[in-house]
Amino acid sequence: MHNFEGQTVLLTGGAGYIGSHTALVLAQWGAKVVVVDNFCNSAPESIRRVEEITQKTIPCLELDVRDQAGLEEVMTEHKPVAVIHFAGLKAVGESVEKPQLYFEVNFGSTSALCGAMQNCGVKNLIFSSSATVYGDLNQPPLTETMSTPMDRVANPYGLSKLVIEQMLKWQQRANSDWSVTLLRYFNPVGAHPSGKIGEDPQGDPNNLMPRVTRVALGIIDTLHVFGTDYPETDDGSPSRDYIHVMDLAEGHAAALAEMLKDGRPPALKTYNLGSGKATTVLELLAAFEEATGQKVKREIHPRREGDLPVSFADPSLANKELNWKTQRSIVEMCRDAWNWQQQNPNGYRA
Ligand code: NAD
Ligand code: UD1
Repeated sequence: MHNFEGQTVLLTGGAGYIGSHTALVLAQWGAKVVVVDNFCNSAPESIRRVEEITQKTIPCLELDVRDQAGLEEVMTEHKPVAVIHFAGLKAVGESVEKPQLYFEVNFGSTSALCGAMQNCGVKNLIFSSSATVYGDLNQPPLTETMSTPMDRVANPYGLSKLVIEQMLKWQQRANSDWSVTLLRYFNPVGAHPSGKIGEDPQGDPNNLMPRVTRVALGIIDTLHVFGTDYPETDDGSPSRDYIHVMDLAEGHAAALAEMLKDGRPPALKTYNLGSGKATTVLELLAAFEEATGQKVKREIHPRREGDLPVSFADPSLANKELNWKTQRSIVEMCRDAWNWQQQNPNGYRA
């Protein structure tokens, strides 16, 4: 636990899945949290519930992060010591169909944010990157020093993360009093144990956990398991490094505390936020059934195009430098995801 008393932190995209859990942790640990979001993939209700849980007031302002003048107004009023930049589009399939939209929103918002920070003298930035930048070239465990060539990322979404990492490296080099931390998330799942906030994907979700909870609830009939013929895993289904969203939120708090530490020189840092453990699809389904007592009806299907057989982090750099590591098990991830889904079958829509 860190003490952020008296420090204001601006969260772009803070009403979303990871942002709302991070807002909760930061508010509980004393920070004054301010959220800007255009609600294109979220609702202000998430932050209202964070206020209910934390008993803290969190201004939640409707703003498109591409609106630099609007951001400058917010920064002038609230004087944040740091920004955590979650805002962006993240649907992989949609990014393949509409690459221009992804470049426009993800680059445009980052560029406007950097301009506003420069004009308002805000010098600390944490960015939501993704394990997707490692592409299909590297063998896990994935470490931050591995090369991340542009032609090995699988889709425009991944490319946007990789290019933004490079944008921010140059930005930090040109503004040597800035601290920039790039956090590469592995596979975030789960929800706050209260079940009041959680992942609320719009439309038909593609990711595994929201599909599993919807099958258990009867909203989706059957879970398609995309391949059980991968020679790289014992049961043949692909494996991933799942991370509880509360561990991920605490990882942001740890990165922020390190960044704001007295006497720490400004720097660009990159950290994997993962557990270091790989869990296969079939293992996750077994854990879900154990955690919830629900049967998950499934069918084996062919592999999904673009899927890696195995992906997991080497989290030792974050363990050491941020004094952070994951605490929560796969069973807890499943229990909390199910608790949220059961309490909120329609997400934040009543
Ligand atoms: P999310 O969609 O729930 O949250 C993103 C938020 O940004 C949403 O509230 C959305 O309304 C907002 N937003 C989008 N464009 C905006 C704009 N132009 N102006 C203002 N607000 C805008 O997604 P999440 O899962 O919470 O992800 C947060 C960040 O982490 C994203 O950048 C995502 O790419 C990254 N990330 C997510 C995952 C994952 O599996 N969830 C994995 C790796 C990285
Ligand atoms: C996907 C994206 C990745 C993105 C991440 C977080 C692809 C190729 N990768 O990662 O870029 O950063 O989401 O949003 O889309 N699975 C099933 N049945 C399902 C859904 C998934 O068997 O209905 C399997 C997949 O084959 C995979 C695992 O579950 O092995 C996890 O899938 P998913 O949650 O979509 O995450 P990733 O594919 O790792």
